Amino acid sequence: MATGLVLSVNGRRHETQAAHDTPLLTILRNDLALNGPKFGCGLGECGACTVLIDGKAARSCVIRLDTAARSSAIVTLEGLAANGLDPVQQAFVAAQAAQCGYCLNGMVMTIRAFLDASPNPDFRALKEALQFNLCRCGTHVEILRAACLAAG
Ligand code: FES
Repeated sequence: MATGLVLSVNGRRHETQAAHDTPLLTILRNDLALNGPKFGCGLGECGACTVLIDGKAARSCVIRLDTAARSSAIVTLEGLAANGLDPVQQAFVAAQAAQCGYCLNGMVMTIRAFLDASPNPDFRALKEALQFNLCRCGTHVEILRAACLAAG
């Protein structure tokens, strides 16, 4: 059995005995029942599994558990809404920026991290920030509208 590791997820401490190379996404979804982050490609390519690790957007399907345990704070979509919907989440509701909704976790988390680092982006910067988040339904126009709303 692997030596225990401790994660800080949404402000709570979580100890796990899982293998150190377990993807963070597996722990979040299977052990902590945090289903905001989605399994899409499992290869770090689509963005569906995005969480915030120490304030930066990170693809939890390719982050090992032992790497995640070295961080101070992991925040999932659920954590973002802990005290009511985050303004980015509110913008997505206002823009009705979803079709199937599977990609939205990644879109919201990516925009949250981006706006925290760059509070007054122009449209081009927002578009670039989302360029590696995939939406198979093709609702990028609405998603960008939500991103613009969130940016103010
Ligand atoms: Fe992690 Fe696609 S599921 S990037």
